[in-house]
Amino acid sequence: MKNSSVKYVTTSVQKTVWLGQQLGAQLRDGDIIALVGDLGGGKTWFTKGMAMALEINPDTIVSPTFTLVNEYDGRYKLFHIDLYRLKDKAEIIALDLDEYFSGEGIVVVEWADRWPGELPGDTVEVALHIVDEHTRELGFSASQARAKKIIRALKEKVGYSFSQGACRAFQSA
Ligand SMILES: Nc1ncnc2c1ncn2[C@@H]1O[C@H](COP(=O)(O)OP(=O)(O)O)[C@@H](O)[C@H]1O
Ligand SMILES: [Mg+2]
Repeated sequence: MKNSSVKYVTTSVQKTVWLGQQLGAQLRDGDIIALVGDLGGGKTWFTKGMAMALEINPDTIVSPTFTLVNEYDGRYKLFHIDLYRLKDKAEIIALDLDEYFSGEGIVVVEWADRWPGELPGDTVEVALHIVDEHTRELGFSASQARAKKIIRALKEKVGYSFSQGACRAFQSA
């Protein structure tokens, strides 16, 4: 089946947060968002935006220092998993992360590519890359039904250029 994708460029933290809000507004129980890409790419800021759309205080969203999973209560539960500090496979096995894919709550995984096993296939992947000091490129992709639907809804909402101005989309399929 054909994949869905779209890319946006943001020129400020606020615009990345805004884009996170637009994606967050589409989400419901069982949805999984995998965030990958550069350190400082904006994964945590983007997650704050998604949290805002779920009526969760974005100030409470931080990259966990000692834990790998934080749980928040909003319109839906949000499980924020950050694998940056993952030490070894034993640690992830001990966390039994698969339990978060039961379908209750929305799961956001920063550094999803450090996952030693497989994330469920029906996942929206967002790859965030540093372009320059204030510019980030966010590439969204999906290969299965629910995640593709989320990307379609995001495109309808955001269009191919940001209503807020300085963001532009330069590719879509
Ligand atoms: N357009 C932008 N979008 C998001 N963050 C940006 C942007 N421009 C600069 N930044 C900076 O990049 C850093 C992103 O941090 P963070 O969200 O923690 O990244 P990650 O979680 O991917 O490591 C912050 O210091 C932020 O101020
Ligand atoms: Mg982070």
